[in-house]
Amino acid sequence: MLEPSIRQETRHRGLTLIVAATAHDAALTAARIIQGIVNEADRRHVKATLGLATGKTPQAIYAELVRAHRDERISFRHVVTYNLDEYYPISPRDPLSYRTYMHRHLFAQVDLPPESAHVLDGSVPPAFADEACQFFDRWIDADGGLDLQLLGIGRNGHIGFNEPEPHRSVAEFAALPSRKVTLDVVTRADAAADFGGNLDAVPKYALTVGPRVILAARRIVMVALGSSKARIVARALTEDPTTEVPASLLQLPEVAPRVTWILDPDAASLLPDLT
Ligand code: GLP
Repeated sequence: MLEPSIRQETRHRGLTLIVAATAHDAALTAARIIQGIVNEADRRHVKATLGLATGKTPQAIYAELVRAHRDERISFRHVVTYNLDEYYPISPRDPLSYRTYMHRHLFAQVDLPPESAHVLDGSVPPAFADEACQFFDRWIDADGGLDLQLLGIGRNGHIGFNEPEPHRSVAEFAALPSRKVTLDVVTRADAAADFGGNLDAVPKYALTVGPRVILAARRIVMVALGSSKARIVARALTEDPTTEVPASLLQLPEVAPRVTWILDPDAASLLPDLT
């Protein structure tokens, strides 16, 4: 098992900030944290509840978990997963749905019991969408909350599909439940490449787990890679918590001690020297 190379590990505003030597090292660092939780659950025969993310960032993390399952016999039999978000409307069987993404990158390649993998259903009728999200929150609560929430960051600072909502106070935003949301223009433009470069094909809405559940996770691992994230990473880590940059809420004093940011050098390039 390869150990990741870490360039810097510091405490910053109450959270842990790791700058890995490369993007691959950042993925390995996140994968090792997840493996620790999965192995511990397997050893003790107890459940591990993971909140999972999609997008480009976690792909190498999932590839490493799949490798560890194959080569080191890491077992997911005690793992329960809840994905962060899903486009809306979209069929779970659509090749571009997050359900399909998870199936391809993780679910079909490890021994996670199929009934333990939960993704919000982008095909629920519109009148039921918010209620379906509220049920998702209740499932997570009934499973004892999340042992770990894996996060990526959108270029506008979103977490999950919780887009900036500057009209809300931080306290109000932090308490938001899972719900149907309207996607930001930046988010839809970034997603267009996945939809054949056609902005009109990108769903206008999404279902997302809300900040209430995300911020309550017993461990939160945020991974950001590449220079396109450098500006928003610097804002999320150096501005005071603001609903203009949802990821900045990870600094909240009651949340920060449970948070680890993992960056590659490009994503960290606009941070002031934090040593
Ligand atoms: C997407 C997802 C997020 C993800 C983020 C970053 O829109 N809804 O959950 O973390 O945007 O994606 P990427 O890793 O591809 O940059």
